[in-house]
Amino acid sequence: MSFRYYYADRVREQFTGFKGTDEELQEAIDSMSLMYSSALKVLETRLGIISDDFDKKHSYMPIHHVHSRLKTFESIMEKANRYEIEDPINNLDAVRREILDIAGIRVICNYEEDLHTMSNLLLDQEDIDMIKVKDYCDKPKESGYRSLHVVVAVPVYLVGMMKKVPVEIQFRSIVMDAWASLEHELRYKNKGELTQDIVDSLKECAESLHSIDERLSKVRHEVLKDDNKYSDY
Ligand code: GTP
Ligand code: MG
Repeated sequence: MSFRYYYADRVREQFTGFKGTDEELQEAIDSMSLMYSSALKVLETRLGIISDDFDKKHSYMPIHHVHSRLKTFESIMEKANRYEIEDPINNLDAVRREILDIAGIRVICNYEEDLHTMSNLLLDQEDIDMIKVKDYCDKPKESGYRSLHVVVAVPVYLVGMMKKVPVEIQFRSIVMDAWASLEHELRYKNKGELTQDIVDSLKECAESLHSIDERLSKVRHEVLKDDNKYSDY
């Protein structure tokens, strides 16, 4: 995964005013692409290893699936403008510092209780730095959105150097992800404009789904007859 297909001459047409040469712009785009796509690979691997070891120890895999994405260069520039970063195309260092979701990974876990288990196990790794946590499970967003967002910096080893690269992780249960995907789709289809009635209905759905998530968790414990032996993590 990369945004290598962005060629400097085309980027320059869209974002006029870059002060360096085409080669310098190309180099900047390619090195960003390499950094962030490598950070995603590192995280995917580490999460996979944790899940495999969890399975070995507890005969249970907390991760249902993982989805990674890199923001497009256009979308990075659009967000940089929204964040009022001055002259972003000439200040890519500031862009990298301020925009923490250039690389994003969504970790869909089976049950709500798995989200904190997985994020704790990851944050326990010594060379992974926690930059920011937003717990929308405890405190859902106004829309009803639930998820655990953690921004981490992961080490990426290149030729002769190491860089810590930020990645936004969204930990969601299957049920949380189902709601977020459908809500996002409806919002997107309607160009972000939903009537208050629809917004209220979606929020009610989010709340109903939350109680279903809790019930599913209880059922799971009854079926497996485990005593929540993972609560240590
Ligand atoms: P951004 O500038 O949008 O990145 O906002 P932020 O930096 O304050 O981050 P926030 O914690 O709000 O998370 C943003 C991301 O979470 C979005 O890109 C979505 O993937 C997801 N998200 C946040 N709120 C909602 C919501 O109401 N519905 C859905 N479907 N997704 C949401
Ligand atoms: Mg975002």
